[in-house]
Amino acid sequence: MQRKKIVAGNWKMNTDLNEAIVLVNSIKQQATKYKDVEKVIFPPYLFLTELSEILDGEANFATGAQNCSEHSKGAFTGEVSANMIASVGCAYVLVGHSERRTYFNESNNQLIAKINQALENNLKVVFCFGEQLAERKSNLHFETVKQQLEEVLQHFPKEKLNDLVLAYEPVWAIGTGETATPQQAQEMHAYVRKVLSGIFGAEVANQLSVLYGGSCNAQNAKELFACPDVDGGLIGGASLKADDFCKIIDSF
Ligand code: 13P
Repeated sequence: MQRKKIVAGNWKMNTDLNEAIVLVNSIKQQATKYKDVEKVIFPPYLFLTELSEILDGEANFATGAQNCSEHSKGAFTGEVSANMIASVGCAYVLVGHSERRTYFNESNNQLIAKINQALENNLKVVFCFGEQLAERKSNLHFETVKQQLEEVLQHFPKEKLNDLVLAYEPVWAIGTGETATPQQAQEMHAYVRKVLSGIFGAEVANQLSVLYGGSCNAQNAKELFACPDVDGGLIGGASLKADDFCKIIDSF
C-alpha cells in the first residue's frame, strides 16, 4: 500500500476570522489540482466551524484542531473537548506539538489521554515529536525521539493505526528559518520507521505517513519531499501565505 502524502498547515495563534476565511478560500481555489495530496488546515479553534463549512465536500481537504482537552467534558473552564472538535466537522487533531510540550508543560500522560479522547471521537491524530538543539548537539537526538515515540505510542490501540500520522519536528528548526537538511530528515525518518517497526511491526511501520516540520517552505520542500521516508510536511509560517503553501503542496 502506498503511503498517504499529506501537507498540513499549522496556523498556530495567527489570523483573525476575516483573514482565516480569505486564506482558506485562496488555498481551496489554488490547490484543487493536487488531488492525491491530503491537505489539512489547522486554524485556531474559533474558526474551525466556518472553515470546515468552506472546505466541506472538497476532495482530500480537511480541517484539524491544534490541541484538544485530555478530558471528555465537564468543569474545565477554557478547554475544548475532542467531541466538540469532531462535532464541527473536523477530522484531525495535533497532539504533542513542541510548543505545547514546552509552554504548557504537557506530559506524556496528558498526551496519551488526549490521543485517547481524539480516537474515541473518531479524529485522526497527528502526533508531533522532535529533539531540542542541545540534544542534537550532544548526539542524543535518536535516543530522544525513540523515547518520545515509545512512551506514548505503545498505548495507542493497534486497530486505530489508520488514524495515526507522525510529524518529526526538530525543535531547533521550528520558526528559526533553519531547516534539517534532506540527509538529516531522511536519516531521522528512516530511524522513526525503525522505532515504529519495533512497536507495531514492519508492515504497519511502512504504512504510516511521517511528515517533516521545521521551517519547511516553498524553496526547500521539493528536496525534503524527495526523501524516501518523508511523506509530506507540517508547515508553520509558510502555511500563512496561500501561494507558498500551494507551492509546497505541489512539491512532491
Ligand atoms: P515553522 O514552519 O514556522 O518552522 O513551524 C513548524 C511547525 O511548528 C509546524 O507545526
